[in-house]
Amino acid sequence: MPQYVLGIETSCDDTSAAIIRDDGFVMASAISSQDDVHRPFGGIVPEIASRNHTHFLLNLVESAFQKSKLNWSDISGIGVTNRPGLLGSLLVGVVTAKSLALAYKIPFIGIHHLEGHIMAPFLRDDIYQPPHFWETPFLALVVSGGHTSIFKVEKFGSYKLLGETIDDAAGEAFDKFAKMLNLGYPGGAVIDRLSKEGDARAYAFPRGLIKEDSLNFSFSGLKTAALLQLNKMNDEEKNKNLKNLCSSFQEAIVDALVTKVEKALRQENINKVIVTGGVSANSRLRQRMEEMVKKHSIECLIPPLRYCTDNAAMIGYAGLKHLDRKERSDLQMGVFARSDLQNA
Ligand code: KG4
Ligand code: ZN
Repeated sequence: MPQYVLGIETSCDDTSAAIIRDDGFVMASAISSQDDVHRPFGGIVPEIASRNHTHFLLNLVESAFQKSKLNWSDISGIGVTNRPGLLGSLLVGVVTAKSLALAYKIPFIGIHHLEGHIMAPFLRDDIYQPPHFWETPFLALVVSGGHTSIFKVEKFGSYKLLGETIDDAAGEAFDKFAKMLNLGYPGGAVIDRLSKEGDARAYAFPRGLIKEDSLNFSFSGLKTAALLQLNKMNDEEKNKNLKNLCSSFQEAIVDALVTKVEKALRQENINKVIVTGGVSANSRLRQRMEEMVKKHSIECLIPPLRYCTDNAAMIGYAGLKHLDRKERSDLQMGVFARSDLQNA
């Protein structure tokens, strides 16, 4: 009999519930994005995010059951994000998971959001069928709105941080640049789209820490350089050069990411890498990663777009693997705004 786990994700502004089979097959994934709600504010308003989670979450759980044609009696446990994230948002998912676990007498486990992202490339469905969880070790570039880190995945549950951003996350840099150009929130996907017709060499933006041996990233210098460039331009010039500005900015981020991953693979003598998190949806990053891994005969997995940004399927899959190892959380489990992945 296959096992099924319910996943719940509410760490930021996306509300999501999903049901995962023990081989990583996504039986159902229901997501409600709050982008439209937060857009007028130019960023996430935590109080509004948590209130919306309470409105959407149980309906999404219900719709995951409907889509999967499964019942509560088929579910052997719940995986829920409890760290890191916005405290009010995390609380909604965690309190809901605890209540459901208590009501249906099933175990639950708190999941580190980044461990979820690391599982995303190994999810499967009717269209996307990657290999099963790789033999370890392999590297993981986790690149999202809140994180930009390279991990060595030593085995499931054991992650060594090799490098991370010392200031902004890559997604945050995309979003801030989009805000400077009044392109709306979140800005990554818009910049990606506009960049396709732009010239990446039009503006020489800095690549932070790229020449350093460390595997850390820095995007604050890029942000300042972009702001100084925009301050020199009037609205008409900005509009005329919008695609070139976006493309040059995007290239600076992608260059830094790919260069550091290449360095990490060489340094660790590893030939497998995954790229995951919201920014892994970026088409230029995907293309540059493909070129780089081809050159060095490296195996690389990047999830399809539906599993790049926040979703409960990846949390359910991480939950399934922990529950399989007989790990469980109890009703005292808390939520944490910050948390190292090493302790997952
Ligand atoms: O993983 P995610 O959904 O949430 C966090 O855990 O942060 O990532 C959201 C981030 C946002 O900053 C968004 O602008 C960025 O991912 N993003 C992209 C693209 N799609 C989403 N950045 C660049 N290119 C994209 N196509
Ligand atoms: Zn995320």
